[in-house]
Amino acid sequence: MKRAIVTSALPYANGEIHLGHVASTYLPADITTRFLKATGTEAYYVCASDDYGTPILIQAEKEKKTPEEYVKIWNKRDYEDFTSFGIGFDFFYRTSSPENISFVQDTFKKLLANGHIYEQEIIQFYCKVDKKFLPDRYVIGRCPYCKAEDQYSDLCEKCGRVPQEIEDPKCSICKNPPTKEKTKHYFFKLTNFVNELNQWLEEDSHLQKDVKKYVQNWIKDGLVDWDITRDIKWGVPIPLDGARGQVFYGWFDNHLAYISSALKFLDERGVDGKEFWNSADIYHFIGKDIVYHHYLFLPAMRIGIKKEYKLPDYIPTRGHLMLQSKKISKSRNWYIGLKDFLQIYPADYLRFYLTLITPYSQDDLNFDWDEFYARINSELIGNVGNFVNRALGFTKKTIGGIIPSMDDLDAADKEAQNKIKNLAGEMTQLMEENNLDRALKKILEFSAHFNQYFQKKEPWKGGRGTNNCIFISVNAVRSIAISLYPFLPDSSQKIWSQLNLRGKVSEQPWSSMSDIAINQGHTLGESSPLFKKVEAEDVKVHKSKLGQ
Ligand code: 2FM
Ligand code: ZN
Repeated sequence: MKRAIVTSALPYANGEIHLGHVASTYLPADITTRFLKATGTEAYYVCASDDYGTPILIQAEKEKKTPEEYVKIWNKRDYEDFTSFGIGFDFFYRTSSPENISFVQDTFKKLLANGHIYEQEIIQFYCKVDKKFLPDRYVIGRCPYCKAEDQYSDLCEKCGRVPQEIEDPKCSICKNPPTKEKTKHYFFKLTNFVNELNQWLEEDSHLQKDVKKYVQNWIKDGLVDWDITRDIKWGVPIPLDGARGQVFYGWFDNHLAYISSALKFLDERGVDGKEFWNSADIYHFIGKDIVYHHYLFLPAMRIGIKKEYKLPDYIPTRGHLMLQSKKISKSRNWYIGLKDFLQIYPADYLRFYLTLITPYSQDDLNFDWDEFYARINSELIGNVGNFVNRALGFTKKTIGGIIPSMDDLDAADKEAQNKIKNLAGEMTQLMEENNLDRALKKILEFSAHFNQYFQKKEPWKGGRGTNNCIFISVNAVRSIAISLYPFLPDSSQKIWSQLNLRGKVSEQPWSSMSDIAINQGHTLGESSPLFKKVEAEDVKVHKSKLGQ
């Protein structure tokens, strides 16, 4: 049996999940996991909240909570929001778990023993007003590479690089220029891994070509060793006597929680987690802003512990979601919270629309209310909903939902049957290539074909060929249910129930979408419209709420 572990970028336990998070990362990962499971792969989708880091500490301080209390609230809330969006994690844990802490500390010790860690005195920003060292987000300034203003000192959002030293620095709490003080930090020797990283990038044929290219260019430009220490109290403690209560940088520990959470989940099920990890296909779904971390730090650290845990096979990387063609920004209140959205429309509407607009590339995508309105009404409801309702409703109304036998097939019937036979192969290829948007469009094409077939056959006239039309159309509805399942788990189950078939749609083998499995004499269940239209008036209100 094939095995897979799927992860998606761990959400910071710091504020609510919005549409921007789910489009590029959680939804594609969820669809892929459901697809893998349907094909018989033993696949698990593992995630965790990313609990450490200075922004969380800053926010907890503002809200007068301990960081532990603060992250607990968001861990719970994030999980609830994801679940109501149909994100089916097999396990959702946290980077601050005891298992992750000890895994991170062990990894550090191994890296140290293998000669990949050194200690060095550095000059660190210090704020005399706030009386603290100022790592990462505590400092804002100009990116030394692309000169973008107002960037945090740990990541430039404009060019995606990790600045070595930010220009024109200011303390983000009090806005005063910081002073510089001496402190001792540990460094990870990223420069030790140039050859092996290049080799991995060459050899892993599943990595996206365009992403690979620019990572290779970063390596060519020269890597720098990586400061993994922070002079704060919130983080995984550095397990050495000389560490003076310092902790690891959040990006040192967070991706290790992919492994530590998977191990916890598997070991608790009586499976040897390490053995499973190393025999599975490993997928890390990310957004393009964290390519640097996933294509350099993460593999280098795994290589640094002698590949005790194998490197990723796939790092599907997608672009940012824009909202009404503008960059999403929580601080400028330009975003839509996932929870708010799901209070107005079913999860499947959002899953449908986001999948259609999200290609397998780093291109940015755009959530547009008018387009949402148009595509839900015309493509989801006007095409898929219409065909399902037409085929099942007609059969129910005219012959009590009992499937008739077939007569001789004409050319249109044969063509329709071939569509069913070919669907699984075509869908599988697109899904395996990670072209989820194109796979969903394939289902739409399939459904459009059957709408036309039904229309041409005019079964309401009761002429020759009516039985064939019903028989084949009802089987096509079954194919739609199975193929649609990874994308729209709720709606596909509704179709399954209306078909009155045994078991759940989620239990059906993926390739069986191409079977003609509903036979003469089968009785359909109750049929009713699957979807409710999106109203133009409502869309106006949603837009005006955004200030448009
Ligand atoms: O950029 C982020 O939102 C990070 N919290 C992602 C972490 S992914 C990791 F764990 F590798
Ligand atoms: Zn920059």
